[in-house]
Amino acid sequence: MCGIVGYTGHVQAAPVLMDGLERLEYRGYDSAGICVSDGDAAHPLKALRVKGRLSALREASENGKAVPGLSGIGHTRWATHGEPTVENAHPHLSGGKVAVVHNGIIENYAELRVKLQGRGYVFESETDTETIAHLLHYYDHGDPVDAIVRTVMHLKGSFALGILFEERPGEVYGIRRDSPLIAATSPEGSFIASDVPAILPWTRNVAYLENMEIVRLSPEGITFFNLDGEPIEKEFTTVSWDVEAAEKGGYAHFMLKEIHEQPKAMEDTIRPHIRDGRIVMDELGMSDDEIRGIRHIQMAACGSAWHVCMTAKYIMERMARIPVDVDLASEFRYRDPVLEEGTMLMVVSQSGETADSLAALRYGKQQGMLSLAIVNVVGSSIAREADRVFYTAAGPEIAVATTKAYSTQLAACVMLALHFGRIRGVVDDDTYAAHVEALLKMPEQIREILRGEARMQWLAGKYANTRDAFFIGRGLDYASVLEGALKLKEISYIHAEAYAAGELKHGTISLIEKGSMVLAVATQKDLMEKEVSNMVEVRARGGTLLALTMEGNYDMEDQADFTIYVPRTEDVLYPNLVVVPLQLLAYYVSLSRGIDVDKPRNLAKSVTVE
Ligand code: F6R
Repeated sequence: MCGIVGYTGHVQAAPVLMDGLERLEYRGYDSAGICVSDGDAAHPLKALRVKGRLSALREASENGKAVPGLSGIGHTRWATHGEPTVENAHPHLSGGKVAVVHNGIIENYAELRVKLQGRGYVFESETDTETIAHLLHYYDHGDPVDAIVRTVMHLKGSFALGILFEERPGEVYGIRRDSPLIAATSPEGSFIASDVPAILPWTRNVAYLENMEIVRLSPEGITFFNLDGEPIEKEFTTVSWDVEAAEKGGYAHFMLKEIHEQPKAMEDTIRPHIRDGRIVMDELGMSDDEIRGIRHIQMAACGSAWHVCMTAKYIMERMARIPVDVDLASEFRYRDPVLEEGTMLMVVSQSGETADSLAALRYGKQQGMLSLAIVNVVGSSIAREADRVFYTAAGPEIAVATTKAYSTQLAACVMLALHFGRIRGVVDDDTYAAHVEALLKMPEQIREILRGEARMQWLAGKYANTRDAFFIGRGLDYASVLEGALKLKEISYIHAEAYAAGELKHGTISLIEKGSMVLAVATQKDLMEKEVSNMVEVRARGGTLLALTMEGNYDMEDQADFTIYVPRTEDVLYPNLVVVPLQLLAYYVSLSRGIDVDKPRNLAKSVTVE
């Protein structure tokens, strides 16, 4: 997500920080800033922040000359709380005494903000990070490690922090929980960074901080502390990666990295919305009356985001009993749709800039519809123009083929459906509680699926030369196979089609012949028998049958040539689990065929033309 760099040493800090941030640019960012200590404990700290590119920061700082000093922290921000503006850019300061940069999400920031305001702190930004700066200031009585420990005890969520204290010139502090942070030494000084590429021009000698370990950089060197404030020993290792490999965190491609980031992306999207077993949607700003007033939902999106809508239709109708129609965004406004009063438009988009989705949103608004957008990029056009916004917390997605944004969009839809269902009184308490519990388990279940990656790699190798692939499923599994087929075709160039399993015999089954690969997703209990009969039909025509089902459904092995299992969950949550093996299959098939996985031919990451 965002990038952090901290430095102290013998050379001017600002150019070192900006150079490090540039090496983290691939992670995506929308604003940037630095804070440099001028070495005088009596001078208040000041931050220099810009909206947009790092070149603007270079200009504003006269290439660093305007902010002299030998220690500092820097940050590139990918907005999560509050739009990308100068005020929301990091570092955030408290009273000129503490400066902080932060990666991650503070789930209880709203509560902390109110408490701190009660203690007289004035907030200048909409960010969760500013609460950390004020907490550090509140607890700073001359012992930085103690102030850090007391502060993090109040934080729920994930963080990697870089911190400066006015009264400690020459020192830089860091701590992390569930967001990466490294420390590094070189003859020119010492560093903290959120990722290895930032420090590679200076050193390859790094230590990886564990959760809740504290680091202090000083002119004398690096010291690590535990939460009791006691110094601890840490091992330094030598990084052997080149810059390109380092940017991908050691993964061969961004797509694979992003597939592996899904547990974290899911956690960051789900956790802040669940408090005491309840789904909380305060940020959506929809009153209960508004939710009760929805009579119909019209969804519109493109590509994978459209598949999310297809999945959401089943879930929203089942959990909230609201009728849902789904349109491709490129079709929606041209078909002169009948939009009755009480219709809410939902647009789903990772980038928030897809031309057709934006046009669908504008069209819906012109027709007087209330609009809700599920968007990943804060401050994007769709996010700005929609009446209500749910932000997924997938972080920047670099590979053209979407993976983690798709998963988080699905999770957002499940949470919205449960929330709407509860407010409308159609989901009973037990069902609600079981689904909330299942949502919380999903990140770990995805980790478990990822541990079986080698099996998917082996399978992909076996079917890499398939000419035609068919993906079949019923109900929610049909929605999942739409995404499975798209993933395979867009990055492997294998012809793949998705079919509702019951529809095959109305035409398509004539295409099945010896050697055709058919992948059946079968997770929906009520439809299992019917789906198995469709699978038998395929097998009888000579197709090679792969089944993707849930653990325990071992009878499937009697029908299929190869069976892949995902952990058990609630029916409406299976799309979030089955998509992971489908992504891995597509990735490894593409790899076996020697295709540029991250940049498949003819495709762009963000489609801003109709
Ligand atoms: C497929 C893929 C695309 C996008 C589509 C919409 O892997 O990434 O199909 O889902 O172009 O993009 P967003 O979500 O940015 O509106």
